[in-house]
Amino acid sequence: MEVIGGDVVGPLWDGAPREGMSQDRRELAAKIAMSLKLFAKFYGSQECDQIEAWLDEMVLRGEAGLFEAPRTVDVVSHRTKYFFGNGYTYGQGCQGKEELLPLGSVDAIPLWLTTLVIQPLVSKGILPHGWVDSVVVNDYRSGGSIVSHVDPLHLFARPILTATFFCPAKLVFGASFDPARTVPPAYSQMLPRGSVLVLDGTSANDVTHGMRPEDLFGARRVSIVLRHVLDHAPTYLPPGTLNPRERSRLIRGVQGRWRDSASKTFFIVRQLSVAVLSVLRGDPDEGEDPFSHSATWRLTPREDGLVCNTGLLDLDGLFPQRLQWKPLTPNHEKIGFTWIRLHGD
Ligand code: OGA
Ligand code: MN
Repeated sequence: MEVIGGDVVGPLWDGAPREGMSQDRRELAAKIAMSLKLFAKFYGSQECDQIEAWLDEMVLRGEAGLFEAPRTVDVVSHRTKYFFGNGYTYGQGCQGKEELLPLGSVDAIPLWLTTLVIQPLVSKGILPHGWVDSVVVNDYRSGGSIVSHVDPLHLFARPILTATFFCPAKLVFGASFDPARTVPPAYSQMLPRGSVLVLDGTSANDVTHGMRPEDLFGARRVSIVLRHVLDHAPTYLPPGTLNPRERSRLIRGVQGRWRDSASKTFFIVRQLSVAVLSVLRGDPDEGEDPFSHSATWRLTPREDGLVCNTGLLDLDGLFPQRLQWKPLTPNHEKIGFTWIRLHGD
């Protein structure tokens, strides 16, 4: 392990053969150690104070429901996760199948975090400018843990950086999390307040890492995980989400002239604008215009279709001679409405 700046902290296993450790395990431990880089005292104590004050503010903001996006905060027992920039699906039964959340699911990376946490790493040449586009803040309280895992290889580039605030903790590699702790860590890394750990190679890719409740030294430890999302990372799309080609088929398909089923109202669709014409009671024999322009409506594209007033049109409702609009808020009474293409169109 390369330690840069500050006192040398860890590894807890110093490379000497440990009782009962197999040759394979020892080799793994050595590889983990070699692929880690620790900036033992990257943030000074005043910088830590400042960052920790912002972390407290972030917690209050979360508790007050002040984050805008729906998936920014995720509370589990003894640990709260905050996602910024890019969030992703994770959790039990999800390993290997994680997907990015669609844009807008989590809040943007806060300015304080860019300025106080990321920028110093950029200034020192540790990270390229603009590289960090996903930040996870883990706020662990006594009894908190993070189960052994590998950060999804198909979502995140390497390296992976974790900064530690408040109390120190140990990150354990290759350990089992069963109640008996059957498999002890192949390697443990002590992470002091203000440190930055860089995981790459073996430590990031070939062995799990995690933190058991006994690895926390104090009542609260916060980690800030800095990562870069891969260009082709799979994204979770809610069922019914249209791709650009489908969306354009829908918009092309609604162009033209339509009537309602009672032939009382006519609709002329041009681009995303709908001219609405109602039948006039006037006498056409008198040369009166049989139509009056009564309104202009908008078609609003949405993830899953086009919205017009209280109706939603998706690909299931698109026919050459007919548009079958679904009620926007489905309920038992509403059945939607139909537009029928005018002859000659
Ligand atoms: C993670 C992670 C470790 C830590 O969030 O993926 O490994 O130090 N966190 O909190
Ligand atoms: Mn991780």
